[in-house]
Amino acid sequence: MSTVLFVTGTGTEVGKTVVTAAVAGIAPGRVAVVKPGQTGVAPDEPGDLAEIARLTGRQFTALELARYPEPLAPDTAARRSGLPYLSPAAVASAVASLAADHDLVLVEGAGGLLVRYDEHGHTLADMATATAALGVPVAFLLVTTAGLGTLNSTALTAEALAARNLPLTGLVIGSWPAAPDLASRCNLSDLPTVADAPLLGALPAGAAGKPGEPFRTLAAASLAPALGGTWTEASLG
Ligand SMILES: Nc1ncnc2c1ncn2[C@@H]1O[C@H](COP(=O)(O)OP(=O)(O)O)[C@@H](O)[C@H]1O
Ligand SMILES: [Mg+2]
Repeated sequence: MSTVLFVTGTGTEVGKTVVTAAVAGIAPGRVAVVKPGQTGVAPDEPGDLAEIARLTGRQFTALELARYPEPLAPDTAARRSGLPYLSPAAVASAVASLAADHDLVLVEGAGGLLVRYDEHGHTLADMATATAALGVPVAFLLVTTAGLGTLNSTALTAEALAARNLPLTGLVIGSWPAAPDLASRCNLSDLPTVADAPLLGALPAGAAGKPGEPFRTLAAASLAPALGGTWTEASLG
């Protein structure tokens, strides 16, 4: 049975792409990565999937379903560009079809969980719900920041998932500082409490600067066994 993981974050620029690359980089078997809506990128420019290919240095199936040039929420970017909106049904159908012949399907959202994709206000959560409705089990991975402010945005996202009956597999800290401050160190135990989900890793700051084999080695050391790695909280010293 294929695993379908929707990767969301507590906001934009928290490290969803880097974490998606880390999970994809060390996953055994056939891997697919879907970016439903890519914003802020011109038609000929590299998007998040290109960054994941660069970081992982491995073969995977890459699928981008919509692209809008302006760096805005997908619904706003679609409206302003005149390009079509992306519906949950379109994403669900693409994800279900990839799930049929891949061991792992990762779906990276735009921004945080409740960012809108269409004129009806549908979000990544609706895409996951629509995928589950096709009989494909789904779960979420939540990428968070390390320091002050993360507990509230993490709790809000976890609560929004729970309200929609969407399972949260765990949290990953997108960028763990080389010299963590008091808040970051305390958050290691407080994040799982406020999210009611386990912490499944922390990518060190600078991880994106080491593409290919070094990145995969780092990914294995930074992700918990549930995500295919060897990380434990003790790894952070
Ligand atoms: N662990 C990390 N190491 C190095 N750079 C990182 C790390 N996490 C995030 N970044 C950088 O921060 C920015 C945002 O990360 P990204 O993964 O693109 O976030 P998101 O996908 O959530 O918008 C990027 O420029 C990325 O290179
Ligand atoms: Mg991204």
